[in-house]
Amino acid sequence: MHCHADRDFTKFSGPTRPGTEGSGGQRKGVVVRGITPTTLGSWTDEELVRAITTGINNKGDTLFPTMPYMNYRYLTPYDAESIVAYLRTLNPLPDSIPDRDLSIYPPGIVTSMYQDWYGDDIYLSLSQPQGNEELLKGKYLVTLAGCLGCHTNIDRKAMAFKRDSVFAGGQLSNKPGNNFKVNSANITPDTTTGIGAWSEEVFLAKFKNYRDKEAYDYNPGKYNSEMPWTVFANMTDEDIRSIYRYLRTIRPIRNRVTKWPQ
Ligand code: HEC
Repeated sequence: MHCHADRDFTKFSGPTRPGTEGSGGQRKGVVVRGITPTTLGSWTDEELVRAITTGINNKGDTLFPTMPYMNYRYLTPYDAESIVAYLRTLNPLPDSIPDRDLSIYPPGIVTSMYQDWYGDDIYLSLSQPQGNEELLKGKYLVTLAGCLGCHTNIDRKAMAFKRDSVFAGGQLSNKPGNNFKVNSANITPDTTTGIGAWSEEVFLAKFKNYRDKEAYDYNPGKYNSEMPWTVFANMTDEDIRSIYRYLRTIRPIRNRVTKWPQ
């Protein structure tokens, strides 16, 4: 929802501006489609599930891979259908978004994005918790919430994730229009540079904190974050705990990150 709405970065972690849910729009040069019934009303449920989980739209065209269908392909059919059912309930908002113009992207970027996801699926390189339902759920949530996409540094030359730094942070977000620069944190279980020293309660409390509007309803200036804390805070305690437990199983990587570089 965050990507298809306006985020208000005058507040911590850019909560969604109420009333813009599903609106889409021009986001810093990238065209994001509306996802309210105005745009999707004529799509069948099957077409929507296919677009979300495989990136093929109702006309048979491929969606640009900023839409993380490479993560969503792991959705269970039940969850994918629930998302579609929910989209149908959104307030229909006007959709006057121009068609996308792919010619603004250097072709190399597009090919390497596909390569990263399809040629050599990074999610397949993650450990697979054997037979442990809770860890499997943690992995499922981490995959769908896109933690890896922000918490893994990118080799800007190859335009690909650094395979030896998965979840080790240090991916810089410095978007034009934002008055802050932020590096994603190291969330591997390394005790000195990651979250290895965090107890489960500390991890849970950090997320729960943002259920309270007071915790983000202020102007953070240059200490802002792209991480959608206000969205993730709505997960159940149980879900947040399973994410923590899964993150404990990944390989610790030593990588010191300065969250807010000057
Ligand atoms: C849109 C990018 C983005 C996504 C998606 C994202 N994060 Fe983050 N995360 C960040 C950034 C940037 C920071 C550093 C600033 C801050 O603390 O908010 C951060 C910080 C954190 C921290 C604080 C670590 C510390 O040392 O203080 C934790 C824990 C964390 N993220 C976990 C997660 C988990 C788990 C997920 C998936 C459920 C996730 N993040 C998804 C960008 C993201």
